[in-house]
Amino acid sequence: MRSVLYSIIIFLANYFALCYNFFVQTEKWTDYEIIASGNGEKLERWGSVYLLRPDPQAIWSPPFDLSSFPKLNAVYERSTTGGGKWRTLRSFPSEWTVSYGEISFLIKPMGFKHTGLFPEQAYNWDKMSELILKRGGRPKILNLFGYTGGASVALAKIGARVTHVDAAKNMVERCKQNAELSKCPADGIRYIVDDCNKFVAREIKRGNTYDGILMDPPSYGRGPNGETWKLEDNISALVEQTAKVLSDNPLFFLINSYTTGLQPTVMENILKIHLPQGNVEAYEVTLPTSDQRGVRLPCGCSAMVSYSDVVSDGV
Ligand SMILES: C[S@@+](CC[C@H](N)C(=O)[O-])C[C@H]1O[C@@H](n2cnc3c(N)ncnc32)[C@H](O)[C@@H]1O
Repeated sequence: MRSVLYSIIIFLANYFALCYNFFVQTEKWTDYEIIASGNGEKLERWGSVYLLRPDPQAIWSPPFDLSSFPKLNAVYERSTTGGGKWRTLRSFPSEWTVSYGEISFLIKPMGFKHTGLFPEQAYNWDKMSELILKRGGRPKILNLFGYTGGASVALAKIGARVTHVDAAKNMVERCKQNAELSKCPADGIRYIVDDCNKFVAREIKRGNTYDGILMDPPSYGRGPNGETWKLEDNISALVEQTAKVLSDNPLFFLINSYTTGLQPTVMENILKIHLPQGNVEAYEVTLPTSDQRGVRLPCGCSAMVSYSDVVSDGV
């Protein structure tokens, strides 16, 4: 009897553990694909260009030797002294475009193994777009740590008026190029090169508000004047401050992070503490792979509070 009870408890524990593992992913990419991953690397197709680059999460064994993939164009090789560089195996354009539905992005292998786009974020673009389209009109959106503008372009394309903030001038330039490539409305994006903390403080003073806010901060970062950003130390205070520029009729507030220690529940708690009550969701963002073993690639976590069917009554 005791052992039956024990088995039931173990079964229920496993069942709830599985339910708790809440992940999301977009299946809609056609120009982007993860062919396979393993041994700390991922093999990706960006349009017709194949790249192999490090991914510290891919600690499992690959289905085949990724570096011997016949179509491989370039591989990012880590240096023993830190950093690394791209090594070309088969020639390919210095930059090219990939499309996601109606929007397009410039792709270029860059330093820090970057390519200029985080394709897994398409899930969040679609989620925010749905709320904007449901509300209609031209809501004001604030995109902090906006990088090359994946989210800014996706939301401006459907009519939102986006303020895109990033400390790096070249990233903001890249966002402009992506917006032009995607034929976003000319007044769709306001481009700001600034430190996110400082920008938010100024917006509070000016009394400016936004209907939707998103932020995708790195683990460590620098503002244009060397201002330091450390995620674990700064995220809660930044969310608290940024909550002050959310409009009285808000749509959403989204935070995303790649930082491994920042679990969905941590993000969910930060949102619950600092934002007006709404529908809170927190999830692991993943990407599907073409690996027949059913491997999904973890790409960080997001938490979102949305207000589509909630009447807000303050914090
Ligand atoms: C690459 S995105 C983050 C995407 C992803 N979460 C990651 O960690 O790689 C980070 C962006 O934040 C910007 N950034 C870093 N510190 C910043 C700061 N203090 N103020 C504004 N932007 C900053 C960087 O220029 C970069 O474009």
